[in-house]
Amino acid sequence: MSRNLITGGLGFLGSYLAQQLVEKGEEVVVFDLATDSKFIEGIKDKLEFARGDLTNEAQVLAAVRDNDIDHIYHLTALMPPASEQDLSVTFKVNVQGTIHVLEAVRSLKVVSLIFVSTLATYGLGVPPLTNEDVPQQPRNMYGTTKVCCERLGEQYHRKYGVNFRGVRFPPILGARRKDSAHSAFSYLAIKESVLGRPYTIYVEKETRMPLLYIKDAVGSLISLKEAGEERLKRRIYNISGFSLQAGELAQEVQKHIPQAQLDFKPDPTMLDMIGNWPTLDDARARDEWGWQPEYELPESVEDFIAEVRANPSAYE
Ligand SMILES: NC(=O)c1ccc[n+]([C@@H]2O[C@H](COP(=O)([O-])OP(=O)(O)OC[C@H]3O[C@@H](n4cnc5c(N)ncnc54)[C@H](O)[C@@H]3O)[C@@H](O)[C@H]2O)c1
Repeated sequence: MSRNLITGGLGFLGSYLAQQLVEKGEEVVVFDLATDSKFIEGIKDKLEFARGDLTNEAQVLAAVRDNDIDHIYHLTALMPPASEQDLSVTFKVNVQGTIHVLEAVRSLKVVSLIFVSTLATYGLGVPPLTNEDVPQQPRNMYGTTKVCCERLGEQYHRKYGVNFRGVRFPPILGARRKDSAHSAFSYLAIKESVLGRPYTIYVEKETRMPLLYIKDAVGSLISLKEAGEERLKRRIYNISGFSLQAGELAQEVQKHIPQAQLDFKPDPTMLDMIGNWPTLDDARARDEWGWQPEYELPESVEDFIAEVRANPSAYE
């Protein structure tokens, strides 16, 4: 049984990843600034906790050393809009924090390090289907720090043999999401409908955007970690889920909740942002290490609704 450390383990992705790893019988140590999350209630007694700040190198090193860690899933990052407020703080958390993790992996000989990057590393003007060969020209600090971390991981792999592996995700759809990112309408439309509240979608019915369901997202991290080294031809892979129009999402929700009150009031600023997102081409992840998503739009909406219905008060 391997021992896994998840940085940001109490966050959105982290809580689902901890759950999937626990279900596989693996040992999980959560490294986070936060002390608790209502979303880990069911697995809390199976988790270990190493509370710490990623910007503190000694705390990162101690968490890895004292817990005898084999694998690290490095998820902590400041994301928009928080990442765009104080660029120096974002650099410290996202880039300096990643160096701390890389140094811990190198010096303590951790077996593998899985890193999560983003579609936001590609800027504007990229092909509608964007693969790993497309140059990255991020527009915001979030994407800039993620490109930097990707290159740092590759350097640590080249120079020190660190087993750095990463993915670039599109926006993730999932019930525990709580941020106010541009893609927020996708999860709020479902969540508010389950909770019996009206919701106004701020893009047009025809606005198309790429999404990845949370269970596929964390599944891809575990699958990449488990992939044989001989199969990998690169350190970072694009991952894709499905692409939907906002109107299709509303229809899918109304199939399950006919009384859902979803209307549309497009916001031009949001349209400008969201209308330009490419779909990530994940052919290499599929070919090289067998990545295969299981959730299209119908399965995602069904699973999301079931999760919120099972414990609505947690999602208020
Ligand atoms: N959510 C998405 O749609 C999405 C899409 C693409 C990539 N990603 C990437 O996935 C990763 C996880 O995203 P998420 O949505 O779960 O984020 P989140 O904000 O829900 O979770 C981040 C966690 O990190 C913790 N944290 C913040 N600062 C810390 C610090 N200094 N030290 C220790 N812990 C700290 C927070 O307490 C939180 O629990 C990020 O790297 C993000 O860039 C997310």
